[in-house]
Parts: sequence; structure tokens; C-alpha cells
Amino acid sequence: MVSISLTRTAMGRLRPHQPSLVRFCGVAPGSTRFASLGLSEPPKRLSTQALPAVGSKVGAMLGLHHVPTIPPTSPFFAATKSVIVQEIRRQVARGTEEPFFVVDIGAALDRLSLWRWFLPRVEPFYAVKCCPDPNLLYSLAQAGVNFDCASRGEMEQLFELGVKPDRILYANPCKQPSHLKFAALRRVPLSVFDCEGELEKHAALHPEGDVLLRIAVDDSQAQCVMSCKYGAPIVSAKRLLARAAELRVRVRGVSFHVGSGCFSAHSFVEAVERAAFVFDIAESIGMKLDVLDIGGGFPGSDDGRLSFADIAAPLNGALGQMFPLSRGVRLIAEPGRFLAEKTHTLAVNVIGKKVVNASEGGDGTTRYYVNDGLYGSFNSVVYDHAKPTAQLLTPSGALDFSSEELYPSSIWGPTCDGLDCVIQNTQLPDILVGSWLFFERMGAYTCAAGSNFNGMPLPQKVYLREAASSCASAISLRQVKSQHQPHLVATAT
Ligand SMILES: Cc1ncc(COP(=O)(O)O)c(C=O)c1O
Repeated sequence: MVSISLTRTAMGRLRPHQPSLVRFCGVAPGSTRFASLGLSEPPKRLSTQALPAVGSKVGAMLGLHHVPTIPPTSPFFAATKSVIVQEIRRQVARGTEEPFFVVDIGAALDRLSLWRWFLPRVEPFYAVKCCPDPNLLYSLAQAGVNFDCASRGEMEQLFELGVKPDRILYANPCKQPSHLKFAALRRVPLSVFDCEGELEKHAALHPEGDVLLRIAVDDSQAQCVMSCKYGAPIVSAKRLLARAAELRVRVRGVSFHVGSGCFSAHSFVEAVERAAFVFDIAESIGMKLDVLDIGGGFPGSDDGRLSFADIAAPLNGALGQMFPLSRGVRLIAEPGRFLAEKTHTLAVNVIGKKVVNASEGGDGTTRYYVNDGLYGSFNSVVYDHAKPTAQLLTPSGALDFSSEELYPSSIWGPTCDGLDCVIQNTQLPDILVGSWLFFERMGAYTCAAGSNFNGMPLPQKVYLREAASSCASAISLRQVKSQHQPHLVATAT
């Protein structure tokens, strides 16, 4: 029986992990998973000393070979929803009409703690493409995260923040030659290939650099597929490894991506099995590989059909079995959405409303027009297959739709394009023009790809927390502006 006590301070320290730990353990009194931890009732008092004991149980359930220890306490706990809503109201009260993001970098740092708790052997290389927000990159770099870049521009952004080249993986399997030359010049040590042409390019332009062989894996269980474009079929692995040896390009290991927004833990396990097979092929031709890159695909929050813990448990089992510590393989990953999604909340203004009367030949629905759309932050609806959820800002918080009369409605972006529909066929209460809607979890694949089409401005950003402002001072405002972010407004909570 593990006895647990939780002091107020320890409770504060454990906040980021606790929900997942609790969720994973099924901590409701009497639950069987809870009982399997040897606990008879939920932890009311929990001391940090007691955690390794719980950790070892959790570790065993996860199939880990060493017990995860509590990561160093981060002062950046995620802001609560009420703090974010309060900040939205504060901005609205200042008289703004433009859309804006409230950014909480603490949410990413909490997710990082979760990562280190559940996948302690796997080093995250944050996929910059997901959200290249300079404050986010800076904070992650400070927290010891490395980076996955797809281009010269992304690498340059990191160099400007002081990130050293050896913390960068140039993970684009098809590289523009001048970008690869840049990587060589700056001594970025590791990149990725998936075909002979790319190997030859590498041998010619970055002969000092090492590579990972990206293999195709099953990505059919993901929101966004990738293997249609990248990844070598497993049958070509031997030929490609042999060709690399001929060209004197050092292959260090294997990478894969199960697709972004993957909702199958099995996809990860199967991909690890495939990778292990390639390690064996390499060994059979006298090549010793020592890096496994398990890519991205991890969920941005734990509210969906598959939580991070649900993936981590079997994934750790597969890694422990096929790549035990004794094998000496460095395990890395390229999470994007996992770290970025919860950092941004988007607030948009209702700039117009049209009731399309059935009696006049319309469909009887109400169309709301807001000032950010598919060409801006909601490009995620097109590129990321996102399904944003609107909430209505009220003086006291968010309106609870369940107690309202609802009408068939749709939400449209501000451009003149008929495609620019953010949400079709939804049920909304009667909303006045001038009201504010907000959308949580808008950090992944949103501001990364928005445009100013039709002259529409992209949302400004309001950063919560003082840490963000000190970080902002480390980055020149000029640089921030050059990244399409009209303003950096740092406010203390
Ligand atoms: C090569 C590569 N790595 C990592 C990622 C990040 O994936 P995710 O956001 O699903 O973690 C992507 C996303 O497109 C990618 O292309």
C-alpha cells in the first residue's frame, strides 16, 4: 500500500502532471486501475517523497525500464480558462475591434512536463512549422527542447533566438539545395532523407552531415496524412542504406511520422516495429544505427478520443522491448501540436449577421460574419481538418449554450470568398452584432499559415504572464513584426 499525502506546496508543484496521473490511474475511489496502484482511495495528501513509489507503479504499467522522476518544477502553469477569458474581456474593454489571440506559453511548458513524465526517454524536437511563435520557441529553447526545422527560414529564426545548430534536426525529407547548403554552412548536424536523389544531394552539398532514413508507415489513423508524400517503402531500405554507404553519407538512424493528429496508439507501436526492422537490416550489412526519431502525431490536448497517456503506455512498451536502454539508441521525436495547441485562444468580433429567411427562399439559418476566417487563423480548417468550437463571451465568462434557445447557424470569415466558412451547420443562440466569440486550442497550424488576403489583418497577440514579456525583450520587436505578427502586446496577469 502506497501512502500518499499532499501538502499545499506539493499540490501546486504537481498540478501539471496530476490530471494525467489521476486520469491514467483511474483515481476514482474503488476503480480497479486505482486499486492496481495499491491505493485504496484518492490521494488527498501527497508528498513529493511518495511520488517515486507511485511513479514506479505507473512506470511498470507503462512498461518503462526506469522510473520517471518528477521533472523540475516549472513556474509556468497553464492559465485557467477564467484567466484567459478575463484577459479577453480586458482587451475588449479597451475598445478593440480587431481579432486577437491570448497566448499562454505556460500551457506549452505544462505539456512539456507531461511529455517528460510519460516519455522520459524520448527527447522532443519541437516541430517549428506547427507554430513558429517567437515567444513559444524561446521558452521551449530555454526549457531544453530541441527543434525540427523544415527550411532555412525556420533555422534562421532559431539562430536569431540563440539556439545552437546541434539542437536542430533538418527534418524535411526534400530540401531546397540552397537551404541544405545553409545547413552545411551553419553545421546543422542531422537531416532526413527518403530517396536516392536526396542522398546524392546530401553527399554533394552537406557531406559532413549525418542523416536519418525516413520510412513510410501507416498514417491512415490520422487527421493529416503524410506517407502519400514522404517516407521510403520498407522494401527500399536495404538499397538506400547501401547507396548511402557508397556515397559516404553516414546514416545514423530511422525516422517516421504516423500522421498529424493520430488517433491510434497502435500506429505508433507498428511504426516502432518497422523501424526496428530497418535497424536489423542495417546491422545485416554492417551498419550500426543509433538514433530513432518517432516523429509527431501526438494529441494537442487530452480531451479527445485518445489521450497522450493512452499512446505513451503501449509506445513505451514497444520502445522498451525493441530499443532497450542497453541498445544504446538515442530516442527523439518531433512533436508540434502536442506542445502548441493549447497555447493560443482566438477572440473574434461578430461584424455582421444575416437571417436567410425560408419564406424568402433562403434556408432559414442565421449567418454570422466574424473578422478572422479561412484565409487567416482558421486556415487550420482547410489544411489541418480542424473543427473549431465557438464560445460566446459574456460579462461573466462564456455563455452556457445548453441553457439557451439555439438556432441553426453558420459562422463565416471576413473575406469575399464563398469558401470562407469557419463553421457550417451549427446551433447557436441569438447573437448580436458586435459580440465576441472565442475559440480555445487554436495554437497548432493556425497563425503559422494565415494570410492577409483581401487586406484582412491577422490577429494581434496578447501574451499572458510576465515571463513572456521578459522573453519578448530578448527578441527584437522588429523580428516579431517581420513574422506577420502585427503587434506583440505583453501584459502581466
Ligand atoms: C516532418 C514533420 N515532423 C513533425 C511534424 C509535427 O507533427 P504534429 O504536429 O502532428 O506533432 C510534422 C507536421 O507536419 C512534420 O511534417
